[in-house]
Amino acid sequence: MTTETSGKSPHFDAAFRERFAELLRWRRDVRRFRDDPIPGQLIEKLLALASLAPSVGLSQPWRFVLVETPERRAAIRENFAKANDTALNGYAGERQARYARLKLEGLSQAPVHLAVCADETTGRGHGLGRQTMPETIRYSVVAAIQTLWLAARAEGLGVGWVSILDPEAARATLDLPAGWSFVAYLCLGWPEEEHDDPELERRGWEQRGCEAAVTPLKR
Ligand SMILES: Cc1cc2nc3c(=O)[nH]c(=O)nc-3n(C[C@H](O)[C@H](O)[C@H](O)COP(=O)(O)O)c2cc1C
Repeated sequence: MTTETSGKSPHFDAAFRERFAELLRWRRDVRRFRDDPIPGQLIEKLLALASLAPSVGLSQPWRFVLVETPERRAAIRENFAKANDTALNGYAGERQARYARLKLEGLSQAPVHLAVCADETTGRGHGLGRQTMPETIRYSVVAAIQTLWLAARAEGLGVGWVSILDPEAARATLDLPAGWSFVAYLCLGWPEEEHDDPELERRGWEQRGCEAAVTPLKR
């Protein structure tokens, strides 16, 4: 048992906290997937869990798009290839050579492609909390993505976020409803391998341990 319940409110014990920390340490951005399918019910479960995320004014602005047609998936792969080529050409020398060796998507193997959008026009929440900071609607969507990412990892599933895309072209490919902004394109699948360190670290692109990221300024 990882939790004990007293009445309706669960008690998360020390063993649970340690397991939760382990989940955080072993969550990875995954680009290498086996091509086994993911049961539809599991995707439904993950979307329901993601929907427990916090949102500005309880607006719940996340909107999910399962990208299923081969034509649309091919267009997204093409979109990535162009954006990645442009990115590569923005580097030079050794950094460019390193970039060229990176695998930055698992679009061909991932059984599930999930675009995540923000409904910028939702009336839910009645505008609470976003009158001075309208961008909080997109921050709320990112909170749902992180929730989904952890829930997926707990099921043994990998998630890979692909942002090397032209968002306008992605919008057109996905034929998004008016008022939805494109936030993320996620690949989901069973990982080929498990790691407790980021692939970008293993490939010598960047190191963890950014002092400024863990040390708050005190004001
Ligand atoms: C907003 C966002 C966009 C990302 N875009 C990409 C991407 O296009 N390609 C990629 O390979 N990884 C992408 N990543 C994954 C990061 O590279 C990864 O999270 C980081 O290297 C740390 O690795 P970890 O997630 O395994 O801890 C993205 C992550 C975030 C949060």
